[in-house]
Amino acid sequence: RAAEATLTLHGDQTGPVISPEIYGHFAEHLGRCIYEGIWVGPDSDIPNTRGMRNDVLHALQALDIPVLRWPGGCFADEYHWRDGIGPREKRPAMINTHWGGVVESNHFGTHEFMDLVELLDTEAYISGNVGSGTVQEMMEWVEYLTSDADSPIANQRRANGRDRAWKVRYFGVGNESWGCGGSMTPEYYSDLFRRYNTFVKNYDRANPIYRIACGASGTDYHWTETLMGKVGHRMDGLSLHWYTLPTGNWSDKGSATVFAEDQWFSTLRQTLRMDEIVTQHSAIMDAHDPDKKIGLIVDEWGTWYDVEPGTGPGFLYQQNTLRDAIVAGLNFHIFHAHADRIHMANIAQMINVLQAMILTDGPRMLRTPTYHVFEMFKVHQGATVVPLELDPPDYTHGDASIPAVSASASRRDDGTLHLSLVNTDPHHAQTVSCTLDGVTATTVRGRILTAPSMHTHNTFDAPDTVVPVAFTGASLDGNTLTVALPAMSVVMLSL
Ligand code: AHR
Repeated sequence: RAAEATLTLHGDQTGPVISPEIYGHFAEHLGRCIYEGIWVGPDSDIPNTRGMRNDVLHALQALDIPVLRWPGGCFADEYHWRDGIGPREKRPAMINTHWGGVVESNHFGTHEFMDLVELLDTEAYISGNVGSGTVQEMMEWVEYLTSDADSPIANQRRANGRDRAWKVRYFGVGNESWGCGGSMTPEYYSDLFRRYNTFVKNYDRANPIYRIACGASGTDYHWTETLMGKVGHRMDGLSLHWYTLPTGNWSDKGSATVFAEDQWFSTLRQTLRMDEIVTQHSAIMDAHDPDKKIGLIVDEWGTWYDVEPGTGPGFLYQQNTLRDAIVAGLNFHIFHAHADRIHMANIAQMINVLQAMILTDGPRMLRTPTYHVFEMFKVHQGATVVPLELDPPDYTHGDASIPAVSASASRRDDGTLHLSLVNTDPHHAQTVSCTLDGVTATTVRGRILTAPSMHTHNTFDAPDTVVPVAFTGASLDGNTLTVALPAMSVVMLSL
């Protein structure tokens, strides 16, 4: 039986632009994200471009990735960039203490990352080392990357095979400095940010670097208050990390694929907390920065489950089901609703780690349901929010409820309007009756991502089990759009 949702689209009103960077990614030296996931080396049997596997590159290129964060994460604050330049066979190895204690070869370093950035036609977001690195080390990395001067450091880059400086749009001054990045207080970190940031120079004056300070974990509002007060407009962006744990409990996260409706429901309810958390951080930022010049950068988000049985606990390898697709859709809708403050968001992580786009197994790879949401939603990148009012029915489980329907709309420069819809209810279809105010539409086309069960996922033997297909459940009658939204689905409509 279908429940009813009503929705009014205000096509005659204009909201903020959705920063393309909200669709950003994150690749850390963690588990099999970099090694195996992207980097196989030029001598691999797996077809590759200068060491990066072609199947993965091809899949990622289709997402129009706007920005890629690297090298961590916790890894960033123990990474010393000089170990990752020069001839690969001469690079010193190191221990990746955070992630499995494995030996890191440093074969994927600055040149390889910037090559990847260019192959993906994306922007670089580099996380600098504040926790265990010096100001000089950070300063010289920025010079190595971005200076065209005839200086010893820029000439070292040239000697290593790159003549022109690269463009680095975003630079993070430390990661999780309250935890793995140095266990600092916000007061101490604020002073360190001011010091390190002073030496992040704009060698390329035409492309000034957007500086991102380490922000809060979840509901740590004191961190945001302190940073806004002590650092203020010295930073361009302040980060926020909020992961979706099915129970909110780190010691019992649950399986990615084997779960009951309790965990389906609690996962979605946890992920919807992103709205409340962003709202509260934004309110603090508004008090210091009413013109919203400083961006909130949600540079780690996504689901975090127990690792797949038989895989290393420090590798954070998890499968990805229809539940993850719903989580992605809900988060994007929240980010759009806060597009005036959120300048960027980076899902954790791109390949083989946490809520990944792509999983690999030797020469095989698959696109996850989350990948398909990123692909379906890319039309929202850079588009202008079309305000809407939604009155959704509840999806009730036990004695708790969440909205059964979530929606977001945007208009592209060519006038095309996109409406994305998510049905969180695994049992009931929803009929969405949509009044189009100030929208002239004559046709509606759509695609849907859904599956027979909450647990459905893509495997290496059946990689296209969950894929978007044409959606025929939307019809137009004058200024009324009616959508028959199947249970547990993500739909993208073009008008
Ligand atoms: O994404 C995995 C880890 O989660 C990151 O390295 C760290 O920043 C966060 O705690």
